[in-house]
This record gives sequence, C-alpha cells and structure tokens, in this order.
Amino acid sequence: ELGEHRHYMHKEIFEQPQAVIDTLQGRITDSSVLVSAFGHRAESIFAEIENIQIIACGTSYHAGMVARYWFEDILGLPCSVEVASEFRYRHPVIRNKTLLVTISQSGETADTLAALREAKQQFPGIASLTICNAPESSLTRESNLVFLTHAGPEIGVASTKAFTTQLVALALLMTAIGQVQKRLTEQREKTIVHGLQKLPTLIQNALKHEETIKQIALSFADKTSALFLGRGTMFPIAMEGALKLKEISYIHAEAYPAGELKHGPLALIDEQIPVVAIAPKDELLEKLKSNLQEVKARGGQMIVFEDEGSCVSSDNDNFHVVKATTNVGRITAPITFNIPLQLLSYHVALIKGTDVDQPRNLAKSVTVE
Ligand code: M6R
Repeated sequence: ELGEHRHYMHKEIFEQPQAVIDTLQGRITDSSVLVSAFGHRAESIFAEIENIQIIACGTSYHAGMVARYWFEDILGLPCSVEVASEFRYRHPVIRNKTLLVTISQSGETADTLAALREAKQQFPGIASLTICNAPESSLTRESNLVFLTHAGPEIGVASTKAFTTQLVALALLMTAIGQVQKRLTEQREKTIVHGLQKLPTLIQNALKHEETIKQIALSFADKTSALFLGRGTMFPIAMEGALKLKEISYIHAEAYPAGELKHGPLALIDEQIPVVAIAPKDELLEKLKSNLQEVKARGGQMIVFEDEGSCVSSDNDNFHVVKATTNVGRITAPITFNIPLQLLSYHVALIKGTDVDQPRNLAKSVTVE
C-alpha cells in the first residue's frame, strides 16, 4: 500500500495535489463556487448569518485560524476561532445569527463534538456546519450542513492532506457565503476560483524542493528547540509547522507572529535555535524582513521559505533561502507554503529515527478528552 514511500505521512504529503483536485471536484464551475455543495439548506442559512464561530483542535484548529483572516479581510464578516477544549467549558457568548463551524479530519474528536453539543444546547436553533473527512461520523450526523473534504483515508497521525483540504473547504465556504451575501464581486470570486484551480500545480511544484529541504533538515538533528515565524495567514501556518515538528521529531518548536519577537521570544535566540520564517511577497514582507534582521544579528541558522517576488537575500552559510513557490495569492499562499514545512518535519524525524506514522503518546483520533 505504501508503494514507493517509506511512511504513510510521506505518501499522504505527496497525495495532496490529488486530494485538492478531489475536494474541488463538483464544487466549483469555471468561475464560481456551487453553494449547493454545502447542502440544500446552505443558501438560506448563509443568507442569514452575521458571524462565524469556528471550533476545532490541533491541526484542524490551525486551518480555522487561517480562515479567520480570510473571512474578516476578504468578506468583512466577523469570525472567531477557538480550540474546542476551551470553548466547551468557558460558557462562551454566542451572538445571534452565528454559523458554528466545526473542522475535523475524523469527525470523532471528543472535545469538538462536545463543543458542538454544548453550543446547540445553550443556543437552540444555532446553525451548524462541519468540514469533515469522515462521511459517517458523529460530527456529520449532528451538524445542519456538511462539507466533506475528499482527502481520502489519512493514516499518519500527523495530519497533512486533511489540513490542506480543510483549507480548500474553508476557501470554498468563504467564497460561497460571499456570493450569497453579495460581499464578493463576480470578478473577485472568479479570481479565487482560478487560484484554487492552480493549487494542485502549485503544490506539485512545492514538493519538488524535497531534496533541498532534506539537506536543511540535517542541521536540525542536534537541536532541541526551533522557532517558526510568520505574519498574517503565515502565522497559523508557522503554528502548524511547529506542531508538525514537535509531533514527529520531538524537537520543541514554537511559533510566533513575527511582530511579537521583541515582546519576549527574541531573548531565546542564540546559535542553538534554528529559526524558520515564511516570507511570501505580500504587504507585510518588509516588516517581516526587518524582524529577520533582528534574528540574524543574534542567532545561528535561519531558514526562509519565500516566493519568486520576495527577494530575501542570504549573505552567509547559516542563512538558507528557499524559493518554495512562484507568486501566490491570498488564498493559495498559506496552502502552498505549508508544504515545505511538512517536508521539513518529515525529514528531521527521519534523521532522528522516530516513529513517523505513530509518534509516541499520540493517537490518530482523540475520542476521549
Ligand atoms: O480528527 P481531528 O481533525 O478533529 O483531529 C484534531 C487533532 O487531534 C489533530 O489535528 C492533531 O492535532 C494531529 N495529530 C496533528 O497532526
């Protein structure tokens, strides 16, 4: 079943172009998103909502964090995101006309399910939607609307292709709501759809950097800690990169929005801490570059993943710049930049000789709290 791959995680990383194709299939036309892909009640529910509340755990939570930037920035629709284990116990206030969105690969995560049940009990009549990879699951049964990610079975405990398809699903959801509420022009919707259609190729191209990333991974083998930096949607992508590294290589990793460096984490930086930064060409790039200068002056190894237009220049051997992609858009950027981070943690884990598909202490589906 593994074919040419040594691990399921590796196989699943390389299945991502197809997983995206399968998740888009039948959900878009050449220029628009099919609202009915979210269920026959989607149109009337989407017309009414005024807020989004996303609830999820782990990697699925990071997908929600990315989507919050999209909902608020592109649609101007308020969106909150919270980990399910906090949401379920803190008696949150949910505003009227909220769409409760759960995100889950398995559809059985105990905290996510309990958070949905709690919200339904506190706010009877609240509209719920799940983005889920398991058609027959508790979350799909208990939500009003269901959008299935067609990632196929994910065996590796570390979530990879499920995350990528969750982001695709969230982009479609954002666009569908924008369409129904007329918050997007037809032209903008078309641009988003065309971007999504390019994703399989963008991912394919990002995967081609495996050899370079393998070399970079060598320098992590003797490290005990790493820092991941990003701004905007790249902050949750940095969080996801850090989670993946901890999960499978057991190296402590933290993610920070680069603008927070001065507020504490800069004190950590020395030559023992590799710093990974994600640097697409966007309106925050110049700010990120100056954050990187501060790190460079104090630290050791820096690894920057950039795109064609970013032009982060490397001036010494400890500073690796990888052109991970061509220019990417607002939606495609976080999805594409996540790919090299997956490969990085995979190759670090290989070098460390950990059990990549079954990391210690973890289960694929967390059905108890
Ligand atoms: O099945 P779910 O998406 O609800 O699972 C949520 C988390 O347990 C999961 O994403 C976990 O963080 C992964 N092992 C991360 O790789």
